[in-house]
Amino acid sequence: MTDHKLYIVMVGLPVRGKSVTAVKLRDNLRCDAIKARIFNNGDLRRKMIPNNTSYAEFYDPKNKESVAIREKIALINLNRAKRYLKKSGTVAIIDATNASLQRREYIETLLNDHPILFIECITDDKEIVNTSLLRKITLPEFTHLSREESIASFNQRILYYESIYNPLEKEKNRVILDSLHTKIFEEEISDEIPLYDQIRDFLVTDMVKNLHIIRHGETYFNLENRIGGDSGLTDNGKAQARALAKYFANKDIPLIFTSQRKRTIQTAEPIKERQRNCTIVPFAEFNEIDSGQCEGMSYKEIREEMPQVFLSRKKDKYNYVYPEGEGYISMEERIERGIKKALYLSGPSGNIMIIAHRAANRMILSHFLYRRKEDVPYIYVPLDKFYYISATPNKKLFQQKRYQ
Ligand code: F6P
Repeated sequence: MTDHKLYIVMVGLPVRGKSVTAVKLRDNLRCDAIKARIFNNGDLRRKMIPNNTSYAEFYDPKNKESVAIREKIALINLNRAKRYLKKSGTVAIIDATNASLQRREYIETLLNDHPILFIECITDDKEIVNTSLLRKITLPEFTHLSREESIASFNQRILYYESIYNPLEKEKNRVILDSLHTKIFEEEISDEIPLYDQIRDFLVTDMVKNLHIIRHGETYFNLENRIGGDSGLTDNGKAQARALAKYFANKDIPLIFTSQRKRTIQTAEPIKERQRNCTIVPFAEFNEIDSGQCEGMSYKEIREEMPQVFLSRKKDKYNYVYPEGEGYISMEERIERGIKKALYLSGPSGNIMIIAHRAANRMILSHFLYRRKEDVPYIYVPLDKFYYISATPNKKLFQQKRYQ
């Protein structure tokens, strides 16, 4: 009989998306009625050791005392994982850096009763690493340190891990994942790995349980049908932002992704105020289409003063690029990057909110909703409603909702 139980061993430096990936795998396996559990060394350390272990020297590979403590924690978790599979569990996910070859050889010796799949998470995106780090230092174990001290301490911890880090290379069953772009860089499967088809699919699928795609409130430019610019919200726009804040007050929104334009940030601010713990994260990736020489003009002015622009755009709106500006086609790459960053930073389980613009939102929507390219620039993006998307491997839900 083929063995149908599996160990998944996560590998990677801190803040590289290991836990997000582990949770995504566990939740999706559970959706398929497969018993899966995560064994996280960091969580166990925080529970078991009453003293604070957030200080950088605790991770120094030369600090014999702390190395012994960390090894003990790893061993407890490995034994727990083993017991779990001996009993009723099907997939045990070991979530830790498992950075050194030595540690992984030890795991292979100990977990010798079922196959092991190693999944290494990597990302070199500096902004993503820094933003994840800023979220990490909100853990209670950092409260005794200032923000700067916490950042320095966490960066030193990463350096210690880097000093012992060996990327996956010789492991028989290994996947190297770009965890930001949900893209597999390298894949080597030598044994029969149970559930591998499902697991592989989960790794490369974008999962969003509750994604809210919102357009900013009404602006002075909207009143005059002017495009681009950095206009602020009108009184009506501010009232729309307050209505959104009221609508979302009872939902937990830890992060609001906006563009770098005033109108999206002004829409996000009242929402943030009514939340307990919420951060606004402005991404250039979600800025509105850059209309180049036409920035600030009304559609009527473009038709009258630049008829060639008006006609060419009308003929092929998706592929048309404004002189010295952008087109839908040239927004594709940055919008995709923004979505990946927002999903990565939010993790698979909670609420995600993006507040952007008409063209930007069309491109975001088209990432989740199939539309022929020529129809994307016409997706309906009203100022007074938002889109709600829930997309998991088993279910896709797409709704337009009123908030007032
Ligand atoms: O009018 C608001 C706006 O967001 C402009 O800033 C932008 O150029 C435009 O909508 C995008 O819509 P369309 O591609 O239909 O012109």
